[in-house]
Amino acid sequence: MKITVVGTGYVGLVTGTCLAETGNEVVCVDIDAEKVLKMQNGVVPIYEPHLDVLFERNINADRLKFTTSLDEGLEHGEIIFLALPTPEDEDGSADLSYVLNVSEEIGKKIKTYKVIVDKSTVPVGTAEKVQKVIAANAVCDFDVVSNPEFLREGFAVDDFLKPERIVVGSSSEKATKIMQKLYSPFVRSGNPIIIMDEKSAELTKYAANAFLATKITFMNEIANYCEKVGADVDKVRVGMGTDSRIGKRFLFPGIGYGGSCFPKDVKALQKAGSDSDYDFKILDAVIEVNDTQKTTLLPKIEAYLDNDVSGKKIAIWGLAFKPETDDIREAPSLYMMKALLDKGAHLSVFDPEAMPNIKKMFGDSLNYANSMYEATEGADSLLICTEWSIFRTPNFQKLREQMIRPAIFDGRNLYNLDDMESEGFTYFSVGRKQIN
Ligand code: UDX
Repeated sequence: MKITVVGTGYVGLVTGTCLAETGNEVVCVDIDAEKVLKMQNGVVPIYEPHLDVLFERNINADRLKFTTSLDEGLEHGEIIFLALPTPEDEDGSADLSYVLNVSEEIGKKIKTYKVIVDKSTVPVGTAEKVQKVIAANAVCDFDVVSNPEFLREGFAVDDFLKPERIVVGSSSEKATKIMQKLYSPFVRSGNPIIIMDEKSAELTKYAANAFLATKITFMNEIANYCEKVGADVDKVRVGMGTDSRIGKRFLFPGIGYGGSCFPKDVKALQKAGSDSDYDFKILDAVIEVNDTQKTTLLPKIEAYLDNDVSGKKIAIWGLAFKPETDDIREAPSLYMMKALLDKGAHLSVFDPEAMPNIKKMFGDSLNYANSMYEATEGADSLLICTEWSIFRTPNFQKLREQMIRPAIFDGRNLYNLDDMESEGFTYFSVGRKQIN
């Protein structure tokens, strides 16, 4: 099939590449000429495991092309994916200007039937708006379909190629059949393509993300309470998660959720609710708890360092909002670093992928270490913000010898409490007892 993807951000790039992988001819459109040139030369603009291999293979096979020309894209595709940004407006709602501007262009330019697919996370009612904007100018038939994307950064390729489900919001039989044909290679294992109306599809994405953010936040509150009463959240987590109604996943407490989706989508749903005269009380609480959770380790670090972190060297392992990505959007590490810098601490940081992005934001205010152990050399404390695999089994003896004070503040509960005790560390984690 001939596919056009407008917008080569995270979702657009993965969508375009993975659709080319099943034999479709894909043209990706982006207004950023520099980025398009790089992609034409085979450079993947983001770090995402396995994407580079698929990218190269499909470019070489001439199935994946890039252009800055929307006209060229619209000429090419029978299915036009909109994978455009929907940034957070000042009031927390999703800004639809990119989506609606491109829709207007589509209305003016298409000459034959197209299925326009909303892939971006958009508020309920957006498909209807897109439909109207295109219809105002269109001279041919078209359908608008809502097809939210559920992929996770770090697992995006796998999530796209082997989705647990595909949600399609469509009220046109013709468009539904086209979407089913497009996605059938991805659900050969029997996972469903769930067809529903456009509004329900749009809400499904927000509801799923808000639910997961709530699940994590609930565990963060249980963890905080565990600390008060001397219970161990790891044990509670396993005890709860083995109930299949609850499930084992997304129950890991820590220093809060971040990323490009959860924070933005939870706020957008809250705002959309209030616009429709509905007050999502649970989402107010989720936002508030998550904000506080990001710096939950700060008072502990301060207390340990004699209530004065100024001039102290603190090493930080893990800066990305989660492992296997260089994405730092809304990463809890940002909040910890800002707070510690404000208090005069010297920070020596290391992350396997996110250092260039952090450098752009923090400039000379941090020391950028070349390795995890370079960061901890002479440190008064180690703070862990992201659970990259390489941090899971460090050389504890080396750490102990290198550090001025062997103290670890672990925002991701990486280590076993008994090990920390026998290794002789002062160890603070989330929802578990403190080891002195
Ligand atoms: C999320 C959704 O999972 C995905 O379906 C949607 O399409 C986009 O948003 P992503 O933001 O890539 O994906 O990351 P995810 O793995 O879901 O993690 C989100 C945040 O929650 C991270 O900050 C992570 O550290 C945190 N998290 C996750 C926890 O704190 N505890 C957990 O148990 C799971």
